[in-house]
Amino acid sequence: MSTVGKAGLEDVVVSTTDICYIDGREGRLIYRGYDVDDLAAHSTFEEVVYLLWHGVLPSKKEYETFYKALSASTNRKLPPKLITILHALPKKTTPMEVLRTGVSALSAWDPDAADNSREASVRKAMRLTAQMPTLVAAWERIRRGKAPLAPNPKLSLSANFLYMMSGKKPTDLAVKTFDVALILHADHEFNASTFAARVTAATLSDMHSAITSAIGALKGPLHGGANEQVMLMVDKIKDPAKAEAWIRKAIADKMRLMGFGHRVYRVEDPRAKHLRRLATELGRQVGDESKVQILNTVARVVTEEKHIYPNVDLFSGAGYAAMGIATDQFTPIFAMSRVAGWAAHVLEQHGNNRLIRPRGEYTGPTRATYVPISQR
Ligand SMILES: CC(C)(COP(=O)(O)OP(=O)(O)OC[C@H]1O[C@@H](n2cnc3c(N)ncnc32)[C@H](O)[C@@H]1OP(=O)(O)O)[C@@H](O)C(=O)NCCC(=O)NCCS
Repeated sequence: MSTVGKAGLEDVVVSTTDICYIDGREGRLIYRGYDVDDLAAHSTFEEVVYLLWHGVLPSKKEYETFYKALSASTNRKLPPKLITILHALPKKTTPMEVLRTGVSALSAWDPDAADNSREASVRKAMRLTAQMPTLVAAWERIRRGKAPLAPNPKLSLSANFLYMMSGKKPTDLAVKTFDVALILHADHEFNASTFAARVTAATLSDMHSAITSAIGALKGPLHGGANEQVMLMVDKIKDPAKAEAWIRKAIADKMRLMGFGHRVYRVEDPRAKHLRRLATELGRQVGDESKVQILNTVARVVTEEKHIYPNVDLFSGAGYAAMGIATDQFTPIFAMSRVAGWAAHVLEQHGNNRLIRPRGEYTGPTRATYVPISQR
């Protein structure tokens, strides 16, 4: 009899963790005991990063020290030779390919590359979290033929990223929306990319290798790549008046509907409501509400007809688009936030490690006779 569980490791619990809890029936998401609804309402991305790595909310003094380190130009800036590498890449290289390549390359300049102690791994996580926005923004500018902008240590991670992308001071609403989006994406238990990070870390490999593995896993359209696919769908629909007919046909054609469904949630993803609200407010501010209107219609019809619910990827992109961000940058932005969670999981894995090495149930032949190539 087969000992294989449900495909895709569904419902398999691979480890205990103190970092993140998902209640898929109630639609709750908890980081280190705190509901993301509260964190989205009251916290900042920097504070959430601290919470994920250190397990508790920081005191005022701890927060200030941590915030300063995460914002420091020494941590945010990229090695000049990495910028040279970026210039050498074909302009058509996708932002996720650039991020995966850039993060991997950053270890070559990292002073702690060979040190896997907790202290060194936290320093590496700090640098990666600070550098990834610079890397994403640098590529956006290079591929448009512009020079990358130096990070501004006076700005928060969110404000600085939006500034480095466009060269303009972002609005307060854009910064707030972006920061809440980062808070909501920061961790999600044993999702595919986090699991990839933990598998890599469990071989006692290093932080950069684990984060590079995670970025590769996030890239796929069934995971982080879904937010980009949602916006491509919105662009195809174009007109809110056509959304209902379009989505009904997509359902009839049995299309996979991006931004819907989840392995764990049986109700609406708790992150979706915040992103819907923020995308609505931003759309109003920039005078384009059509994207959210399309998504609202799509969400209503899919929920009624298929009983599958919006996930985190349905509304995030509409907010980013209202900030003028290119669609293929949505998944790198997801990574810029999730690096906080990936790093927390790498630290936890290294803190109590055992190699992750499952089995496969072999279903092929076992007694094939080797025939020399000349006789085949
Ligand atoms: C997230 C996702 C990969 C989870 O997949 P999963 O747990 O493996 O679930 P399955 O793909 O086995 O789907 C279970 C059933 O629901 C249906 N379903 C789930 N999500 C669906 C979707 N987005 N569109 C259409 N049908 C979907 C499947 O067709 C399947 O139906 P069946 O049992 O009649 O064959 C899946 O919901 C999906 O592909 N969503 C779209 C991509 C996306 O938004 N990803 C981001 C996740 S945060």
